[in-house]
Amino acid sequence: MEFSQKIVLDFVNSRYQKKNHIVMSKISVIGAGNVGASCAEYIAIKNFAAEVVLLDIKENFAEGKALDLMQTAALNGFDTRISGSTNDYTKTAGSDVVVITSGIPRKPGMTREELIGINAGIVKTVMENCLAHSPNAIFVIVSNPMDTMTYLAKSNAGVSKHKIIGMGGALDSARFKYYLSTALGCPASDVDGMVIGGHGDTTMIPLTRMASYKGVPVSQMLSSDVLAKVKADTMVGGATLTGMLGTSAWYAPGAAVSVLVQSLVCDQKKMMPCCVSLDGEYGQSDICIGVPVILGKNGWEKIIELELNDEEKAEFEKSAAAVRSMNSAL
Ligand code: NAI
Ligand code: 2OP
Repeated sequence: MEFSQKIVLDFVNSRYQKKNHIVMSKISVIGAGNVGASCAEYIAIKNFAAEVVLLDIKENFAEGKALDLMQTAALNGFDTRISGSTNDYTKTAGSDVVVITSGIPRKPGMTREELIGINAGIVKTVMENCLAHSPNAIFVIVSNPMDTMTYLAKSNAGVSKHKIIGMGGALDSARFKYYLSTALGCPASDVDGMVIGGHGDTTMIPLTRMASYKGVPVSQMLSSDVLAKVKADTMVGGATLTGMLGTSAWYAPGAAVSVLVQSLVCDQKKMMPCCVSLDGEYGQSDICIGVPVILGKNGWEKIIELELNDEEKAEFEKSAAAVRSMNSAL
C-alpha cells in the first residue's frame, strides 16, 4: 500500500473508532433471565463490545437466548458476538466486565430484601467461579437486594473496591427523570437528576432539589406537592412494575446496565450514581451504597461528594442505617 493511502486509511480508522467507540472487550452476563438477556441485547445494539457471553444454570437456556439475539444482528446492525453457556465458566475466561444478574426476582408484594437468603448464596458462588477465570474483571452487581449483594461481593472477593459496582442508582435515576418529564410535559432526555442512597423502596433518595430541566432547577417549575409525588412515584417505581408484570422489570434495568458498562469499557468517565464501598465519604464506612461516581476503564474511579443540605444528609443517614441493618442479615 502506498504511504499516502495508509495515512488516509489510518485517519478513517481512527475517526471511525472514535465515532463508534469500538473497543476490544469481553463482557460476561451471569443469569440469562429477563434482566441478563436485556443487558446482552442493549450492549449488543450499542455495538461497543466485541463479545458478550451469557451464562445460566438452566440447561441450554443461555445458549437459546444467545442464538435468538444473534439472529437480530443483521436486523439491528451490530457486530458484537453473543454466545451462551450452561454453567461452563471457562467460556467467561478473560472477561473485562462481569455482570451478575443471577438469582430470583421479586414477586408482587415482595421487597427486594426478602430475596437475600437465596441470592447471597448464588452471588457468592458465581463471583468465585468468575474470578477463577477472569481475575482482573470489573464486577457489576444487579441481583437484589443489590446494596447487600454488592457488600457481599466486596467483602468476599479480595478484589479492589474500585472493581465492585452495584447497579441501582442508574435505573432509579432514569425512573426519576421519567416521572419528572411527565410532570413537566417534556422529553426525559431534557431532564437531569440523580437518585442516591440504597436501592430500596424506602431507602432511595431522589434529589429533587438538584434536578433540572435544561439547566433550570425543576423546583422553579413544579410545585412542592408535584415534586413530592414525583419523589414518591420514583421510590416505588420498581414495586409498581412488579405489581403490573408479576415479576420485576427488565428493559430499564438492562438499559441502565448497558450505559454503565459502556462507560467502563469505553473509558467514558461518565458520572452516575452507583453502589460502591465508602471509606469515610458521605460520613459512612464499611458499607456499599449509592453515590455519584466517575466510571472508566479502572472501574469506579472517583466518588463525587455532593453538598447535601441537612434534610438530604438526614435522609442519607437513614438510608445507610437501613442498608447496614440488611447487611447484618448476611
Ligand atoms: P430471572 O428469574 O428472569 O433470571 C434470573 C436467572 O438467574 C434465571 O435464568 C436463573 O436460572 C439464573 N440463575 C439462578 N441461579 C443461578 C446460578 N447459580 N448461576 C447462573 N444463573 C443462575 O430474574 P430477573 O428478572 O432477570 O432478575 C434477576 C435479579 O436482578 C433479581 O435478583 C432481581 O431482583 C434483580 N434486579 C435488580 C435490579 C437492580 O436495579 N439492581 C433491577 C431488576 C432486577
Ligand atoms: C427494580 O427496581 C426490582 O430492583 C428491581 O425494578
